[in-house]
Amino acid sequence: MTLLKIENATMRFGGVVAVDNVSLHVDQGEVFALVGPNGAGKSTVFNLISRFYTPTEGAITLEGEDLLAHPAHDIAKLGIARTFQNIELFENATVLQNLLVGRHRHKRTNLLSEMTFLGNARSEEKRHRQAVEEVIDFLDLQAYRDKLIAGLPYGVRKVVELGRALATEPRLLLLDEPASGLSVEETQDMAFWIEDIQKQMGITVLMVEHDMGLVSAVSDRVMALSDGKELATGTSREVQSHPAVIEAYLGTSGIQKGGDTGKKKKGKAA
Ligand SMILES: Nc1ncnc2c1ncn2[C@@H]1O[C@H](COP(=O)(O)OP(=O)(O)O)[C@@H](O)[C@H]1O
Ligand SMILES: [Mg+2]
Repeated sequence: MTLLKIENATMRFGGVVAVDNVSLHVDQGEVFALVGPNGAGKSTVFNLISRFYTPTEGAITLEGEDLLAHPAHDIAKLGIARTFQNIELFENATVLQNLLVGRHRHKRTNLLSEMTFLGNARSEEKRHRQAVEEVIDFLDLQAYRDKLIAGLPYGVRKVVELGRALATEPRLLLLDEPASGLSVEETQDMAFWIEDIQKQMGITVLMVEHDMGLVSAVSDRVMALSDGKELATGTSREVQSHPAVIEAYLGTSGIQKGGDTGKKKKGKAA
């Protein structure tokens, strides 16, 4: 079943065509990766899906529902969660508090009943706590749950940001460069998390990533973009050996092979 469908999307900023007539579909349960040199249009595709931008042309649907009919603040409610290329967390709040923010879309009670903490509010609060504790267990974040974000190493923040997105219980998870800034070992851990998110939680993942080791390890399908246009779509191997993809990377730092970011052992988040 198709979960996300983008049809002939074009995004122009003045004279710049950031996304040029791109079509793609992501199936339920799939891990789909977008790759391409800097400026290829990858983040713009994410920003179209999360409704930061409205495409100049084209259609975007989630399980048949027209996403363009919804404002950006509806996106979480529709079941789309994302992480950012630059981590965005509340620095002076704890890990637990940041994850509880992710539960916001599930709140049904009104503010007054929350303040008086009566009836429904109490049981709902418990449910949110429980959901967040499950994410903390899932991502091995127990040691950090009451620590402030400001004091945490980069690699742990990256996992917390992933946790905040998971706490919303999304249907579609958008990951913008989940391995950027991570060590080789942390990148391997990230590969495990993504695999578990797909296999155990059944969440569909669309990611942008430069590390081709990670892309190869976790992706079912890959699309390469350059100058806003699709170059090739297929398995990671097919895309990496496609002549148009090889040519697009000539004169750049090259497609990062990323070594053997594989699935050898399950490590810790830190
Ligand atoms: N808000 C914007 N205004 C003007 N140009 C933009 C904007 N966002 C992106 N672009 C341009 O669109 C192109 C694609 O950018 P982007 O989607 O960020 O690429 P990528 O994420 O693949 O590196 C680039 O040329 C970029 O400068
Ligand atoms: Mg980008």
